[in-house]
Amino acid sequence: MTGRFITIEGIDGAGKSSQIGYLVERLCSRGLEVVSTREPGGTALGEKLRELLLHEPMNLETEALLMFAARREHIARVISPALARGAWVVCDRFTDATFAYQGGGRGLAWWKIETLEDWVHGDLQPDLTLIFDLAPEVAAGRLARAGNAPDKFEREQAGFFARVRMAYQERAAADPTRVRVVDADRPPQVIRDSVDAIITPLLPP
Ligand code: TYD
Repeated sequence: MTGRFITIEGIDGAGKSSQIGYLVERLCSRGLEVVSTREPGGTALGEKLRELLLHEPMNLETEALLMFAARREHIARVISPALARGAWVVCDRFTDATFAYQGGGRGLAWWKIETLEDWVHGDLQPDLTLIFDLAPEVAAGRLARAGNAPDKFEREQAGFFARVRMAYQERAAADPTRVRVVDADRPPQVIRDSVDAIITPLLPP
């Protein structure tokens, strides 16, 4: 018995969090064991690395390597064991985020990320990835209204998020079976319905 691995992506301010809450509720209501987790983070060590990654200035390659170090720990301790016992794992960001942020946003060579991906989880890919897609200007407005202190990534300029968004779109175009783009510039209930339509065929009868 193996579970399903679902990852959730999008630029900062795209509204992932509320949709993740809904998705987890929906899966739990079907009696599935659901593990809801996030990257960077998801383990005690991973959360320490998250603190550094979100707040400490560092070299770009260091940033990518630490993302993957946290990911390795997360896979070994949380994701793989959960999938092996048949749980559904819903993960707020995964390797597509490294392609989008470190690759697209900051310009790290794609092949370097592919090399790390192959090393760290060559045998594991999400069954489904939802990318919540939103124009950077709209996302910035949402973040500003939320009023939380911005982290290192959230302080980046619109041009950065335009590149992140484009890289996400490239990831989706390269693997349209796994990656589904959800238009996040709609009312929450309409977005939920789109998520439902994508998830329902995956659910056990
Ligand atoms: P995020 O998931 O947006 O959390 P919150 O909603 O609590 O702010 O924050 C994580 C940040 O880390 C986000 O700005 C994207 C960044 N990130 C990367 O740059 N690369 C990665 O590989 C991952 C997983 C995240």
